[in-house]
Parts: sequence; structure tokens; C-alpha cells
Amino acid sequence: PPDAPLDLVIFGGAGDLSLRKLLPALYMAHLHKTLPDDTRIVALGRHAWDRAAFTAFIDDKVRGFIAADALDDAGWRGFMQRLVYVSLDATRPEDFAALGQALRPGVDRVYYLATAPTLFTAICANLHGAGLVDPHSRVVLEKPLGHDLASARAINDEVARYFSESQTFRIDHYLGKETVQNLMVLRFGNAIFEPLWRSPSIKSVQITVAESVGVGSRAGFYDGTGALRDMVQNHLLQLLCIVAMEPPVSLDPDAVRDEKLKVLRSLRPMTVADVARDTVRGQYGPGNVGGERAVGYLQEDNVPATSETETFVALRAHINNWRWANVPIFLRTGKRLAERRSEIVVEFAPLPYSLFPDAPREPVNRLLIRLQPEEHVQLQMMAKQPGSGMKLRPVALDLDLQSALAGRRAEAYERLLIDVIKGRLTHFMRRDELEAAWTWVEPIIEGWKSLGEKPRAYAAGSWGPAASSALMAREDSTWSEET
Ligand code: BG6
Repeated sequence: PPDAPLDLVIFGGAGDLSLRKLLPALYMAHLHKTLPDDTRIVALGRHAWDRAAFTAFIDDKVRGFIAADALDDAGWRGFMQRLVYVSLDATRPEDFAALGQALRPGVDRVYYLATAPTLFTAICANLHGAGLVDPHSRVVLEKPLGHDLASARAINDEVARYFSESQTFRIDHYLGKETVQNLMVLRFGNAIFEPLWRSPSIKSVQITVAESVGVGSRAGFYDGTGALRDMVQNHLLQLLCIVAMEPPVSLDPDAVRDEKLKVLRSLRPMTVADVARDTVRGQYGPGNVGGERAVGYLQEDNVPATSETETFVALRAHINNWRWANVPIFLRTGKRLAERRSEIVVEFAPLPYSLFPDAPREPVNRLLIRLQPEEHVQLQMMAKQPGSGMKLRPVALDLDLQSALAGRRAEAYERLLIDVIKGRLTHFMRRDELEAAWTWVEPIIEGWKSLGEKPRAYAAGSWGPAASSALMAREDSTWSEET
């Protein structure tokens, strides 16, 4: 059936996320004709702009975030015709009447809340008060969804007063990445990995999301948040869920989310002693990143000189279930690290016995799944060094997915926005998942507080504090770049 007409309403429509990610993603979808014809985009903001002022602003701000080879005059003009601007203060109920007039009667609505979460409650209540929510409406919630378990629950409770769970789309943009979605295919679309995908065939799993950028202009948000809340609570735990979950019974949203939830609920809760032993907090100091001098976190704009916010976390987690018992799971993320690199490394168990006296020490077999910036899968195995004798060397079966499979890779936000428009919930977090993630993360925050754990300094451009390598060494493992 043809797609139903839709009004996609963006709160914070002239804000940073909208300009950098949402509008460019919608433009790309428009250009590639995946955005249904009768989808209109209603941007909301507090400026009292008329159409000309709004159009000029969007022209000026959004084009820079679109790849030059995708900028097409006719395409851009067509895209701009879908855009409507309405001036609105989210805290003023009377402004919602004007919004109601700008929306087409009888047309389904998606409300994308790209504002600070402190406004979510007021927005939902005001939408409801103005009669703008019906059973076909959908709401999209951007992270951060809460600061801890209690605040996440409070937001969820408030939103649930007006939108049912099946109308609520909680974004974690990592779930929209092509390579992250491919992880499901790697695991469940192939027969060879799954029988080995468990304890004791797997020795350890490591998940790294490393960034080379610093805090940039986001200190106002970031300094009150830190890497654990900004990255681990959501992106890293979601990656872990996909790596560790049982095969879902189908691809239905709840079938997949049920399995992810089970992983989160099986995470072994951290005691204060675990936090002291198994977590590393870091903060970048000055250094060199990609040949350029980089200032330390404390010298960044708007960062208080005494800030103790972490920009790096490494930790060892455990999943208490049959599949993963005794398999350490290492998670690591940080800003101003040596390079931008997201990857998952599955290290298989060592040989029970080696015939070859000159074999290098472990790891013997590893599966490395690089999610970004490149997309590739590598299986490390041992081979014989040519020549006399039996010298072994590690070599890699290397699959470069970008060259193996041609085709445009849509950005995460583009894919997720189309999912919202089509009403597909699989790649969005359910309420119980979000709360289970906070339940596991909160004791780490509490543990750091009670231990008085200050972040350890690391040089910008390094791989984080030395304690991060030591954490691995204790399990006789190494981070992938150290092998
Ligand atoms: C965001 C975090 O959710 O993810 C940022 O708030 C981080 O701090 C970003 O930089 C990383 O996303 P990506 O897609 O660039 O890996």
C-alpha cells in the first residue's frame, strides 16, 4: 500500500541535532526517494521567523553537513518544499494551538523530541492538552534518557501518560548503523559461528568505541554527563546485547527486544569491590592526535578547571547465564584516543595442547568485527611460515565489506527516521531495556563516588590510562591494538 501522509514534527528543529543529523538525513532520504512523498517536516523553534528567514537559516546551516557529491539543486529545492517552520515555546500551552493549525487534519503525526530531556514532560503534556495526540501518533525520544535510573523512570512514566509503548521510539543511533545491523546477520545468518559462540569456546569479548575527537563545543552537556552515561549506558551496552543475546524467535520488535533485555538482566551487578577492581576512569590531558596538538579536557572551552568528569571508561563485565559464564566482557570507550575506531573482538579459547614448540603465544583465533570507520570482518588464524621448520604466524582472513558489497550506506539517523516513519520498532529501545541498562550502570557511578575514584590522566592521542591495559593483562588478554 502507498505510504500514508505524515507530518514529522521536530521539537528543537533549529537546534544542533536537527541541523547536523536529522535534516541532512531526511534530505538524503528525499534524494534517494525513500522518504515517502507525502511526508512533511515541521520544524519547531523559538525564533519568530517567517518562511524566508527560516529557509535562509536552513540553507546556510544544513548544506555544510551534507556530502558535497550529494548536494543537488533540484533535490535540495524539492526537499525545502517539504519543510514548514512554526515558532513555539515548548513550555507555553497556548503555542500548541498554533502548532495544531499548522498540522494537517486527519494526517498521522510523528513528534521527534530533539530537545533537552527536561522539556519532554512539558511537550507531551502540552501536545495532549491541545488534542494533538491520537492512537496513530508516535513520539521519538533522543538520548540522554535520564541521568540515572530514577530520572529515566520519571521520563518514561510521564511520556507513558500520553503515548503507549508501541507509540514510543527511544533512539540509540548505534542501532541504526549498517554495520551494527549486520552483526545480527553475521551471527544468525551464518551457521558456522553460532556453535562456537559461547563459553568455553570463547575466552573473552572486547568492545571498543574509540573517538579521536575531544569534547568540542559540547562541554555544557558533557561535563555533567561523562563517558559512562554518554556512551556505556546506551551504545556499548546495546552492542553487547547484540553480541551476547540468544537467537530471537523472529525479527519482530518484541522478540528481539526480549532477548536484549535478558542480556541486560543477566549482567552481574557490580559491588563496590568490583568497581574498584574492574573499572578504569580516565580523563584526557594534553597530547597529540593525528599529528596535531590537542589541549587537555580541563583546558577545553566551558570545562571547569577542577572537573572530575571521565572522558574514558574501561571495564570488565560478566554475564551470568549458561552461554557466557566465566567469559570476561571488556568494554572501552573514550574521547581523544589514538584513532576513531569501533570494533568487537571475540577471542576464542586457546589450544588445549600445542604440537608446535615455536608457536607464538595467544591469541590464536580471533574474530574482529570493525564497525567504523571501515567495515570489515577479520578472522585471525595460524599458518605456517614458509621455509624449513614449523614456524607459525598469525594471518587474517580479511573481508572488506565495503568492497564486497557495493551500495550506498545510509547514515544511522536516516535509517532510523525511515523506521519511525514506517512504524518499525525493532531498532529502538524498549522501556524495560533502558531501565535495565540504568540498573546495571548506576552502581558503577555510586561505586566511584564512594571510593572517591578520580579519573586517571591519559595523554590525548593515546589509548587511555595504563590501567586499561592492566585490566586486560589480568585475564591474560590484550586490547586489539596491542597485539
Ligand atoms: C553520541 C555521544 O551519542 O555518540 C557523543 O553523545 C559521541 O559524545 C557520539 O561522540 C558518537 O557517535 P558516532 O556515530 O560518531 O560513533
